[in-house]
Amino acid sequence: MSDANSTPSPAADVWTVRKILDWTIPHLKKHGSESPRLDAEILLAHARGCQRIQLYTQFDSPLTDAQRAMMRDLVKRRSAAEPVAYLVGHREFFGLDFRVTSDVLVPRPDTETLIVEAIEYLKSHSQPRVLDVGTGSGCIAITLAVNCRQAQITAVDLSATALAVAKQNSEKHSVTDRIRFLHGDLFGPLAADEQFDLIASNPPYITSAEIETLQPDVRLHEPRSALDGGADGLDIIRRIVADAPRYLVPTGCLLIEIACEQADAVSQLLTANGNYAEIAVLKDLSKQPRVVRAVRKQ
Ligand SMILES: C[S@@+](CC[C@H](N)C(=O)[O-])C[C@H]1O[C@@H](n2cnc3c(N)ncnc32)[C@H](O)[C@@H]1O
Repeated sequence: MSDANSTPSPAADVWTVRKILDWTIPHLKKHGSESPRLDAEILLAHARGCQRIQLYTQFDSPLTDAQRAMMRDLVKRRSAAEPVAYLVGHREFFGLDFRVTSDVLVPRPDTETLIVEAIEYLKSHSQPRVLDVGTGSGCIAITLAVNCRQAQITAVDLSATALAVAKQNSEKHSVTDRIRFLHGDLFGPLAADEQFDLIASNPPYITSAEIETLQPDVRLHEPRSALDGGADGLDIIRRIVADAPRYLVPTGCLLIEIACEQADAVSQLLTANGNYAEIAVLKDLSKQPRVVRAVRKQ
C-alpha cells in the first residue's frame, strides 16, 4: 500500500489492521485530513464490515484481498477530500444514524442546539404541527419525530434528490407515517391556510464569497445549494423571516440556525418585521451564537 494510486508492494508481510492504520494515518494527514486517525479507523471498519471498536481487538488480523482493495479505494477518495460520511454512507446525529449521500449536507453537531430547543418547546404541546424548511437528510424532521411522538411534521426541500434521502431516513427510523415530505421552494408547496406550532430551519447561510475559503471537503463535495446564502449569507433567512408569520399559529415558535456573526443582523430582521416577540439568540456548547428564536405575536 505504498500509494493510494498504486498496487501495494508485494512484500512478504501481511497487511494487518495495525499495518494498514500505520500507513493510512500519516497518508491522510499529508493529504489534509484534520482527523486522520479517526478517518482511517472509520474507513477501515467500513471496509472490514466491523465496528470501529473491534479494530482494537483485531490489530493483528489480516485483511482479505477484497477488503484491502476497498480500503485502497476509500483512502484514495478521502485523500481527494471526499467527506468520510459520504464514503461510508451514513452519519450519526443526536444519537440516531442517518443515511447520507452527496445530495445532502452532512448533518452537523452544530444543529443539535436547534434540536434541543425544539424538543423543549414541543414538550408543552400535545399534538404539535412542525415544519422543517430545507430538510436535506431529514435530520431535523426525523429527530423531532423520534423524540416527540405526538408531533406531525412537514419537511420541505427544493432538492428532489435530497428529499429521496430524507424519505429513506424516515423509513429507517419508522416515522414515515408522521412526516409529510414536500418538494418546493420554502413555503411554496404549503396550502395558503396551513399553520404550524413550530417552524424550524437550518437554511443555507454561508456567504457566497466565504464558500471559496472553506475546507475542500465542504467546498468541493457538499451541495452548494445547501450552503450558499448569497452575498451576505442572509438571502434565504430573509425570506423565511418575512413569510413565517403567515404559517405560524399565534405564539408559534420560529427557530433558525445561523452563523455566529449573523446573530445581530437576524435579530434586527425579526424586530423590523413587526410580527415577532421574545426574540432571543441561543448559544451552542462552545458558547457561540447558533440559533435565533422568536414567537409570532398574538
Ligand atoms: C444547510 S442544509 C440543511 C439540511 C438539514 N436540515 C440539516 O440540518 O443538516 C439546507 C437545505 O435547504 C435546502 N434548500 C435550499 N434552498 C431552498 C429553498 N429555496 N427551498 C427549500 N429548500 C431549500 C437545501 O437543498 C438543503 O437541503
